[in-house]
Amino acid sequence: MKLSTLLFSTLAAALIPLELKGKRFIRPSVDAQEDGEVFFIKGIDYQPGGSSAYDSSKGVDAFTDAEACWRDAYAFQQLGINTVRVYSLNPDLNHDECVTIFNNAGIYLLLDVNNGEYGANLNRADPQGTYNAYYMSHVFKFIDSFKNYPNVLGFFSGNEVINDDSNYAETVPKYIRAVQRDMKQYIAKNSNRTIPVGYSSADNTDLRRATLEYLQCNNNDDDSQSDFFGLNSYQWCSGISDWQSSGYDVLNSTLSNATIPLLFSEFGCNTKSPRTFDEISDGLFGGLAYTFSGGLVYEYSEEASNYGVVEINDDYSITYLTDFTNLQSQYKDASTPVLKSSQVTNDTKHTCDSSIITDIYSGFGADFDIPEQSNDTKWLIDNGASGAYIGSLIDDLSPRKSNYTVYDVSSNEVSSATVTFADVDKANTQTGVVSSTAAAATTTAAAVGTTATASTSAKTSSSKAAGVANVGISFTGALSLILALLI
Ligand SMILES: *[C@@H]1O[C@H](CO)[C@@H](O)[C@H](O)[C@H]1NC(C)=O
Ligand SMILES: *[C@@H]1O[C@H](CO)[C@@H](O)[C@H](O)[C@H]1NC(C)=O
Ligand SMILES: *[C@@H]1O[C@H](CO)[C@@H](O)[C@H](O)[C@H]1NC(C)=O
Ligand SMILES: *[C@@H]1O[C@H](CO)[C@@H](O)[C@H](O)[C@H]1NC(C)=O
Ligand SMILES: *[C@@H]1O[C@H](CO)[C@@H](O)[C@H](O)[C@H]1NC(C)=O
Ligand SMILES: *[C@@H]1O[C@H](CO)[C@@H](O)[C@H](O)[C@H]1NC(C)=O
Repeated sequence: MKLSTLLFSTLAAALIPLELKGKRFIRPSVDAQEDGEVFFIKGIDYQPGGSSAYDSSKGVDAFTDAEACWRDAYAFQQLGINTVRVYSLNPDLNHDECVTIFNNAGIYLLLDVNNGEYGANLNRADPQGTYNAYYMSHVFKFIDSFKNYPNVLGFFSGNEVINDDSNYAETVPKYIRAVQRDMKQYIAKNSNRTIPVGYSSADNTDLRRATLEYLQCNNNDDDSQSDFFGLNSYQWCSGISDWQSSGYDVLNSTLSNATIPLLFSEFGCNTKSPRTFDEISDGLFGGLAYTFSGGLVYEYSEEASNYGVVEINDDYSITYLTDFTNLQSQYKDASTPVLKSSQVTNDTKHTCDSSIITDIYSGFGADFDIPEQSNDTKWLIDNGASGAYIGSLIDDLSPRKSNYTVYDVSSNEVSSATVTFADVDKANTQTGVVSSTAAAATTTAAAVGTTATASTSAKTSSSKAAGVANVGISFTGALSLILALLI
């Protein structure tokens, strides 16, 4: 694998916490005075051993074996991915080395706050009984554990809790909003930065639209709305489906009105194996690029369900599978639209209306009378949940290779499997940041108040801005151009 040098140059960019604007994720510019860029997720779902292997009494989880993280960060860089989703992690444990490896390697994290154990999830068969302060204290501890890592892109409040059994679609939705409200209030009170909260939905054709409409709208500013929406979509089976037969055309037309970012929180149908992942070039980053912001392939490691792109061997070495090289060529060649933050439509407030939702799916519990927050939950929000290991990045970690071996698809050892780090001095920090008082004043005042470094960047900023203005391509214009080229 000598693609490494090529891939590294694009991955080794500084990581600044992502922000949201309208229906897009935004990657702020390293120079805060410059326009940010729309961020497309090129991701993979990561849970070696599968979610069922999670056991909080074991004292280990997917982010505790640093050797495995060095090994997998290298593989992620070879794949050209920028984000991983992890389903089950233990907030009691120290994840600093693993998260620092991924951060410095240019990988953002989307984390599910729940796990399958008692008191650590909302039970869809008993939402009323399981939405309580005991469960919320688990969620809050989870937030505490990860809130100080800048590469946490967002938290999933739930995964496929509202599913296609009409009883659950009737009873569960308002509890998801209650959990999200509590999470967002906890973050506002206990975290240094806003961390987006979203939901990961099952891909039932009627239910998915109703669920999105239900979760994205504004309910009297009660904090319960989703900041982003994930769909677990297996409709396009590579080598079999196309834009129409996969239903991506319907997805594109029915979800294009979303007011929050959409992503595939899982994708990669494996009916035909090996997978060629043409749904990426022909779908997700093709016709769906207007509506969706990328996605996460299910999944990194080969488990019983046969969705892996690597095999994890008994000695903790990994071997790339054919799916790995196929996915690599898709992500590596993916041409995602290049859009500036200034080209993205601002947030729009969309007031909740039950009838819109029940018109889509009559069995949906479009109830906006959200379950009340218990006094115990309120207390936890005000005072902080105690007990989590509160993680933070490690300062002095040098890039290296894992002592677990990496084998390529021909089972040859990859001898140079060293992870490449972004310039650590620049990672996670922005230049040209002005104090909030200065920012509140005029732009001129802000420029005057900054140092020599900042005024140099201000120049860069204005010439870039001029470049954009000269080209004069609007958000939709740029997209139609790109889509026209791709389709
Ligand atoms: C903000 O985060 C830093 C660590 O990055 C921590 O030391 C500090 O206490 C935090 N402040 C608040 C208000 O949470
Ligand atoms: C999208 O919004 C437009 C304008 O509000 C509306 O006419 C159209 O029906 C909506 N489409 C969907 C699929 O909801
Ligand atoms: C996807 O939806 C957008 C928004 O409605 C539309 O502009 C675009 O043409 C659609 N793409 C395809 C391939 O139909
Ligand atoms: C978005 O909001 C900003 C600040 O509130 C404003 O300056 C800008 O003009 C708005 N953009 C659009 C496209 O409305
Ligand atoms: C919650 O606290 C409020 C005010 O402190 C009190 O009036 C109310 O009865 C409490 N509710 C419960 C369920 O304990
Ligand atoms: C790999 O490194 C870890 C810690 O750095 C060490 O504990 C372990 O023994 C090493 N394993 C091998 C096979 O060298």
